[in-house]
Amino acid sequence: MEKKRILSGMRPTGRLHLGNLHGALENWIQLQKQYDCFFFVADWHALTTDYASPEEIHGNVWEMALDWLSAGLDPDQCTLFIQSEVKEHAELYLLLGMITPLPWLERNPTYKEQQQQIEQKDLGNFGFLGYPVLQAADIIMYKANGVPVGKDQLPHVELTREIARRFNFLYEREVFPVPDALLTEVPVLPGTDGRKMSKSYGNCIYITESEEIIREKILRMMTDPARVRRHDPGTPELSPVFAYHKIYSSADEVDHVAQGCRTAAIGCIDCKKILIKNVLARLRPIREKRLELERDMARVTQILRDETAKARSVAAQTMAEVRDTIGLNVFR
Ligand code: TRP
Repeated sequence: MEKKRILSGMRPTGRLHLGNLHGALENWIQLQKQYDCFFFVADWHALTTDYASPEEIHGNVWEMALDWLSAGLDPDQCTLFIQSEVKEHAELYLLLGMITPLPWLERNPTYKEQQQQIEQKDLGNFGFLGYPVLQAADIIMYKANGVPVGKDQLPHVELTREIARRFNFLYEREVFPVPDALLTEVPVLPGTDGRKMSKSYGNCIYITESEEIIREKILRMMTDPARVRRHDPGTPELSPVFAYHKIYSSADEVDHVAQGCRTAAIGCIDCKKILIKNVLARLRPIREKRLELERDMARVTQILRDETAKARSVAAQTMAEVRDTIGLNVFR
């Protein structure tokens, strides 16, 4: 039986943080072992909001690719590519634009929300409204069956399904499978201040940060605010440090720190020291791999070039079929 095809992408926002690692990336690393996976850097999507400052995107593409490879996405097991290097996406985006009713885009919840939230950028551009059409092109180009995404992306996958159905219906041919969103329950990893981990809050720990900085950030992390003095008992569930222990520490250590916190048998620093040891042990191989890759950027570039070529050949096949279906082969 053919393996199911899985596709997902991330906008290049720079180095990945622990929230990205435990959210999307680890899930992808597992999926590549079982499915025919395509993962890509959505740099055109970054441009829909950052069109006025494209300088950063280029560097961020490489930061992200390096982190992916360091964390364990394996080009022998999956296909990794850069969106803007597969021009077929632009063609399919254009054609899907023809069949996508405007109201589908105008009622997209992320469209209005983001326009309001990101006040410092003018998001009244056509490209931003079309963001989900481009995303639909990314997905159906590879005839993906499953799209692993976070909750925030569900409206986009839903729209992709509607666009795929509409294409098949209008042109009377089942060209595109209707993809499913794959929502994975992932542990939510708070930032160092207890809020959601996010670059814009400045509360991130990055996966390839130096050991000293990680140690420092964990030592300064927020704990249960009610535990003011060393002998005050605490509530582990109120401390972001405990959320980290649940990911990084052994069951025995989790029990030990929870118990120690509730009874004030251990202090917050003791608890954090255990966490630091475990986080560093966990991230060490990733950081080492990253250093090794950084020393050989020519090889990294070659990997991404070869991988992108693989994606391109799949995309070229789909586009031949699409042009044929719509009747766009003028010279034939
Ligand atoms: N919009 C997605 C995000 O912001 C990134 C993305 C672009 C994507 N194209 C995709 C995700 C296709 C899944 C499939 O996270």
